[in-house]
Amino acid sequence: MSAPIEDPPLTNLRDRLAAIATLDAAALEAEDIAILGRKQGELTGRLKSLAALSIEEKRAQGAELNALKVQFEAAIGVRRVELADAARQREGAGVDLTMPGREAWRGTMHPVTVVIDEIVEIFGALGFSVALGPEVESEENNFGALNFAPDHPAMDMHDTLYLDPQGAVPAEGQRLLLRTHTSPVQVRVMREGPPPYRVVIPGTVYRNDAFDPSHAPAFAQIEGLAVDEGITFVDLKATLAHFAERFFGRGTTVRFRPSFFPFTEPSAEMDVACQLCAGQGCAACKGTGWMEILGCGMVHENVLRNCAVDPERWTGFAFGMGPQRIAMLRHGVPDIRHLYAGDMRFLQQFPSVGS
Ligand code: DAH
Repeated sequence: MSAPIEDPPLTNLRDRLAAIATLDAAALEAEDIAILGRKQGELTGRLKSLAALSIEEKRAQGAELNALKVQFEAAIGVRRVELADAARQREGAGVDLTMPGREAWRGTMHPVTVVIDEIVEIFGALGFSVALGPEVESEENNFGALNFAPDHPAMDMHDTLYLDPQGAVPAEGQRLLLRTHTSPVQVRVMREGPPPYRVVIPGTVYRNDAFDPSHAPAFAQIEGLAVDEGITFVDLKATLAHFAERFFGRGTTVRFRPSFFPFTEPSAEMDVACQLCAGQGCAACKGTGWMEILGCGMVHENVLRNCAVDPERWTGFAFGMGPQRIAMLRHGVPDIRHLYAGDMRFLQQFPSVGS
């Protein structure tokens, strides 16, 4: 390392180097030329004049001058960026005021959840409370107590998902399965205490079905049960017709068709006027103008007896419906699988109520 050269012009250059950080844009460019300019630059000139010196002098002064040159280049570069940043800030550049804002993302309720909540609320206003039961059930609760004949086709291995017994073979009716409907919760409610009962039972049920446009291996149901003294089919019809008006809108017409379920007698299915064509007949209702939305009936006296409820004193009605199916009817969804896929392009078409 050579000692600093005691040279007034060099001291002057060091002062000018220190001052670079305070220059404005015009002064900076002028100083760049005055010091580093190829023809007139002061430092350039001094570097050029090194050529006339002896090797020793070259070595002594050259290192110092070259270091100064590098420092000037760096200081001028840094100051240039600083001034450019400041200018951009002053102009508000970097913030594009014409850029459209990003929309705040909002979650929404799944259309099936909305249906379940609405149904529970409508029956809640009629005095029904919510009851729940387990998804793993005994064969007895799922079928036997509900008056299914032992050879009923629904009990076939093809529909029902049985749990592997793992060890000792369970006693008759005690095999475990994934409930195929929410009706076994009727049995649980009735066995828990004496009537009257007014409950709705939302829950997931399972069947050994593959996914296709109208089937899913797991789906929701809402069950209803009302048992009291003097309940008749008139109560069933009035309650369910009221529900249809509340759910689908005033003036919604319904019709009841005779049907069969082992746990009700008589049994019926309720249709509502097709929501998509207002009863005119379209592809969705296969031209009939009607859509089936639930099964129902008067609780079979065998079921009451199986649950230690005296059918001479108590009568009741029950119903069951599928929220996925109802959501499909309500929105004209052609394939149940859309309700399971979690595809945002589908789900965002159902903004939640109130949003
Ligand atoms: N459990 C029946 C099913 O899964 C639905 C049902 C029909 C329930 C009639 C009821 C009823 O309570 O009365 O297909």
